Amino acid sequence: MIKQVLLASITGLFAVTAGAADIQLPAPVQTGGAPLMTAIGARRSERSFDATHSLSPQTLSDLLWTTWGISSPDGRRTVPTARNLQNIDLYVALGDGVYLYQAAQNKLQKITDNDVRPLLAGQQTFALSAPVHLLFVAEPDEMGWAAMHAGSMYQNAGLFCAANHLSAVVRGMIDREALHQALNLSEKQKVLVELAVGYKPVTQ
Ligand SMILES: Cc1cc2nc3c(=O)[nH]c(=O)nc-3n(C[C@H](O)[C@H](O)[C@H](O)COP(=O)(O)O)c2cc1C
Repeated sequence: MIKQVLLASITGLFAVTAGAADIQLPAPVQTGGAPLMTAIGARRSERSFDATHSLSPQTLSDLLWTTWGISSPDGRRTVPTARNLQNIDLYVALGDGVYLYQAAQNKLQKITDNDVRPLLAGQQTFALSAPVHLLFVAEPDEMGWAAMHAGSMYQNAGLFCAANHLSAVVRGMIDREALHQALNLSEKQKVLVELAVGYKPVTQ
């Protein structure tokens, strides 16, 4: 019995420590939530969050899969992209740093230990209380494809939030220069927009 418990603990340990400080997410649950038409009707920009609870690993995994996950064996995603470019990097800012979503491994790869949420919030202090922020990063192109792709992604994410009683708001008012530096982005990369997400505050 003790041996089994020990083995389970060790297996669990490996599940959360896949790489140095990376986070191995649980497999996304691809069912449930409110029906699509209900979610579309319920989607609203909401700017209050329960700052005391981050999303559970399962909810985070489901949210990321909905936003930018791989949904077919040939590697295509939950959102369409022009010529299947898939030219967006999805960063996830949590309290303990920023991660890059690696959809194929269902993993969050640690990029920095810095808490960049103040750079995201700026003057819009309500955003400070959101425990999770999705950052849509791309090399902007002449046609605006990348921006369109980011739009599809935040809409998917917003509908997931509406279907699962989460608060979410798309935000363009962010300190792009400071974020560029904090995330060590290449010269051409840009944080296009972000989505602040969290549980609804208990009073709501
Ligand atoms: C590209 C984009 C950028 C936005 N930027 C901000 C922002 O910086 N701060 C904010 O509070 N809301 C922001 N919003 C949310 C809009 O204000 C909101 O979508 C609009 O008022 C309509 O409300 P609804 O989303 O509830 O339909 C943004 C929305 C989009 C699509």
